[in-house]
Amino acid sequence: MSERRWREVDAYFGAIVQEDAALQAALAESAKAGLPAIAVSPAQGKLLALIARSIGAKRVLEIGALGGYSTIWLARALPSGGRVVTLEINPRHAEIARANLARAGLTDKVEVLVGPALDLLPALPGPFDLAFIDADKESNADYFAHALRLSRPGSVIIVDNVVRNGRVLDVPGDAQVEGVRRMIDLVADEPRVSATAIQTVGEKGYDGFLMAVVR
Ligand code: SAH
Ligand code: DHB
Ligand code: MG
Repeated sequence: MSERRWREVDAYFGAIVQEDAALQAALAESAKAGLPAIAVSPAQGKLLALIARSIGAKRVLEIGALGGYSTIWLARALPSGGRVVTLEINPRHAEIARANLARAGLTDKVEVLVGPALDLLPALPGPFDLAFIDADKESNADYFAHALRLSRPGSVIIVDNVVRNGRVLDVPGDAQVEGVRRMIDLVADEPRVSATAIQTVGEKGYDGFLMAVVR
């Protein structure tokens, strides 16, 4: 099936995903501000929200906010008093994310921290019930190690973009693929987690998620 059909099928499933006006506005404002169109798809955002709900997550760590689109899905999944801490290196992205979160009425549920994630992570208080890793792929192994350090038994760690149109098999690969592969090696040798990786197609093309549960 063609990429066009993948996109049409995602549109068809829109009826159950139910992306609303605040989420659509977040994407529209992000595009208007010139941010790259690399947010999770509506179906993927809903999956993140359902995972958060199904584990009763109260504290969520996100690495890579962009315009806050995935952040909105995650924050909405939390009970009152729940918090998403999202880390974003680009102050312009963080500013757009804050505006999008405010429009969605989620200011009280989200803390947007600005800086390189590797500088911010050492000072963060854990544990987090769920971590979503979606920033520079070069640092994926370090991000996974931090997410694991900041976890408790039962915490879930999800990593976006682990397939990259199949380029994950390229050896040697580009710096991003090498970053994904270092993270996969780490997870393979890490007895404290049980993990899987799922290939996906859809409006974001051919890619995939890694999911790990902390023992
Ligand atoms: N999770 C978002 C998409 C994130 S795109 C969504 O689905 O809606 C990746 C983001 O990671 C970009 O905004 C980029 O600026 C940010 N990023 C890149 N390197 C980073 C770093 N070292 N620390 C924190 N954020 C980083
Ligand atoms: C890119 C980054 C992402 O996080 C993503 O989901 C898709 C593409 C990118 O940098 O090209
Ligand atoms: Mg991504």
